[in-house]
Amino acid sequence: MTRFTPAPRLVGALTLPGDKSISHRALLFAALAPGASELRGLGTGEDVRATANALQQLGIPVAWQGEDATVQGRPLAQWQTPSAPIDCGNSGTTLRLLMGLLAAAPGLEATLIGDASLLRRPMARVAEPLRRMGAEITLSETGTAPVHIRGKALQGQDHVLPVASAQVKTALLLAGLHAAGATTVREPAQSRDHTERMLGAMGADLTVHEGEIRIQSSPLRSLGRVQVPGDPSSAAFFAIAALLHPRADVTVDGLCLNPGRIGFASVLERMGARMLTGVQRTVFGEPVGRLHALSSILRATRIDAAEVPACIDELPILALAAACARGTSVFSGIGELRVKESDRLAATARLLRLLGAQVRDSSDRLEIVGKGQASRLAGGRFDAGPDHRMAMTAAIAGTVGGAAIDVEGMESISSSFPGFVDALRSLRGAG
Ligand code: S3P
Repeated sequence: MTRFTPAPRLVGALTLPGDKSISHRALLFAALAPGASELRGLGTGEDVRATANALQQLGIPVAWQGEDATVQGRPLAQWQTPSAPIDCGNSGTTLRLLMGLLAAAPGLEATLIGDASLLRRPMARVAEPLRRMGAEITLSETGTAPVHIRGKALQGQDHVLPVASAQVKTALLLAGLHAAGATTVREPAQSRDHTERMLGAMGADLTVHEGEIRIQSSPLRSLGRVQVPGDPSSAAFFAIAALLHPRADVTVDGLCLNPGRIGFASVLERMGARMLTGVQRTVFGEPVGRLHALSSILRATRIDAAEVPACIDELPILALAAACARGTSVFSGIGELRVKESDRLAATARLLRLLGAQVRDSSDRLEIVGKGQASRLAGGRFDAGPDHRMAMTAAIAGTVGGAAIDVEGMESISSSFPGFVDALRSLRGAG
């Protein structure tokens, strides 16, 4: 159990570890491009390590030095059948992206497993469209991992996804990159597009036209040497902490500012946040820059389905912001939260009630009556279970609220951001 107490102030400048989504993709795509790629500043969590370890089991050399890795890529046809099941740990991205890739590797056979949380998450959403391309994939009776794959020669297909999911989209694009003919993917709302940007920068035959992504088999150029930008999903915790705290001024530099990831900034802007983002450069198609957040008085807002993909991982911490705002906020179309590392919709409602906020929840909606200011939040004990984002949200509540919070399950932060507690401590002033 870790105790988080109200901070006298939150002031400072941070640079954060590399973005988790981009790190997974940089490792996987570098592994497909013949030659060496030098990846600098990768995400430091166990999820990213799980992708690197999987690649090693598949015969791809990955040499680590601190947060940097050199990957010796080779075409998928040369990847090897692993001698044991691949353990994806807590990482849905590792498992789902590998499904798309390995399904398209004729002769290769693999079993993908994970921790108890990952074994509960839905995998049919990836397996079913892949099967329509000719994939041979077996799931458990309930449509979850273990996933068993026998690689096959696939046929390109047109896919219309029922849910906006960058993981599903990427799995299908990776399969399409190795299939005969063209593959297209259309989503109900646009999910994060790191895959499109990075594969495009590596020379893949990929086009995006009026929301439809089209890909064909094509060779990839090595990524060369790249610096992974900082993770905006990690930054969101410190940005919102700063907005909610009455004596705060926080800057984060070197951040990925992809519009598909910083939907939280637009939501907060509507809420009256004193927060600015500024793009300073572009790295393999990704805008990179700075975020600056100051103590603010927030008002309630509405988030609906179209806006959800761009802030999907930030909804719990945005819900905390809503609990401190003036007025009643409504988050709708958020049913996907139920199938994340935990049932995040239920966990968020449970945390906000503990904090003394009035919350109404239904299958895909949260209504939050704000308390007007963070200092009115109550304290207590919160069990975050296996969910890193719930643990970090509770930690921020204890830091900006009116009373201490004891968080159980803090060790889960190792999956995305092991340095979170130290970074938070560095912002706390002495008086
Ligand atoms: C991710 C996509 C999102 C997100 C997850 C990372 C990715 O999941 O929640 O943390 O890297 O593609 P879905 O694709 O299931 O929405």
